[in-house]
Amino acid sequence: MTQSAALPFPQDRTCPYHPPVGYGPMSRPLSRITLYDGREVWVVTGHAVARELMADQRLSVEAWRDGFPIPDPRFAGVVRDRRPTLCGTDDPEHNVQRRRLIPSFSLKRTAALRPQIQRTVDELIDRMVAQGPPAELVNAFALPVPSMVICSLLGVPYEDHEFFEAQCRRLSRGLPADAYDAGARLDTYLSELIDRKQRTPGDGLLDDLIRDQLNEGIMERADLVSLAFILLVAGHETTANMLSLGTFTLLQHPEKLAELRADPSLMPAAVDELMRFLSIADGLLRLAVEDIEIAGTTIRAGEGVVFTPSLINRDTDAFENPDVLDWHRSARHHVAFGFGTHQCLGQNLARAEMEIALRTLFDRLPGLRLAAPAEEIPFKPGDTIQGMLELPVTW
Ligand code: HEM
Repeated sequence: MTQSAALPFPQDRTCPYHPPVGYGPMSRPLSRITLYDGREVWVVTGHAVARELMADQRLSVEAWRDGFPIPDPRFAGVVRDRRPTLCGTDDPEHNVQRRRLIPSFSLKRTAALRPQIQRTVDELIDRMVAQGPPAELVNAFALPVPSMVICSLLGVPYEDHEFFEAQCRRLSRGLPADAYDAGARLDTYLSELIDRKQRTPGDGLLDDLIRDQLNEGIMERADLVSLAFILLVAGHETTANMLSLGTFTLLQHPEKLAELRADPSLMPAAVDELMRFLSIADGLLRLAVEDIEIAGTTIRAGEGVVFTPSLINRDTDAFENPDVLDWHRSARHHVAFGFGTHQCLGQNLARAEMEIALRTLFDRLPGLRLAAPAEEIPFKPGDTIQGMLELPVTW
């Protein structure tokens, strides 16, 4: 393996759907990066090594541990002070928590949600049509679809969406103190919601967890608040970014879009290829808790490790012509949902939402196009979650 100099991480993308040009000199399968605090850590860029390491229990996700890599000052307080839950805990505790949730996110349960997802999508498009073009697609469609779906799944009142979406925005884009405050406000909101639900039960996943875990003394209250926080945030931010960036990317590839419109049965493959191509969750964080010999190198206990799906999913050893968007390839082995122990719990739900939302959007609005020059449309700056900040469209 050739070592290159430790490049800064994360960096801005030049094009919203390609990895940052500045990552170009990083070697595969492992390289070194420098985080904002000047710390040098490992970065995993090769597909085979990434899958091996993502399943390796010697890498911890526990952010409270000394030396855990933090890529952004906003996350320092929010991540370190949070009660470790699910994606922030290692096995065996992680496995206990994950097993409680698996039935609610199974393929069967997700398939049963499809009619409701379709209704949500139809209603939002009806509203856009009634208001007439142009529209700002992030707020009119990409954010409300997953937000309404996760609210209904969890039993969180959608009427409160402006509050929790604003807190999520502050979490991912605010100043460090702002992000910390947003995390605290969301905790208070969810804690009060759990109080109300204990008095007056409803029929969402949170109600099930209150009845079966909290009231039975199996789960602590603070753990349920923390879990609700993770499900609410993970359930809508990521999918919203995939819908906005996915729409933008398809509009920039008109011949591909025409093919999809002509044959909607390609949509499931297209969703996975878009996941690979866009790799919106572009910095998965770990800390080595033991020495690991891999790819002729030793990752020492105490060293930070960051996975970059945007580069891993463009490794030519795993994907032919990786810079080309092509749903005729098999892309299911991408790591855009992670891999191994912490692989995305909501991936069946996210796939269903993306398939239904993108198919219906392009079906119902055949003339959909950008309402501003592509290069003027703002997308997220260098971040561990990529997406469009705004998406002005007309039809
Ligand atoms: C397209 C949208 C989505 C993307 C790109 C995405 C991406 C990811 C990734 C990369 C991970 C692994 C993180 C790591 O290894 O450190 C993950 C984990 C997770 N995701 Fe998603 N996700 C999406 C949608 C969802 C949805 C809709 C939910 C529903 C609640 C969800 C819930 C979770 C949870 C709970 C975990 C942690 C699993 C664990 O630690 O066992 N995600 N997601």
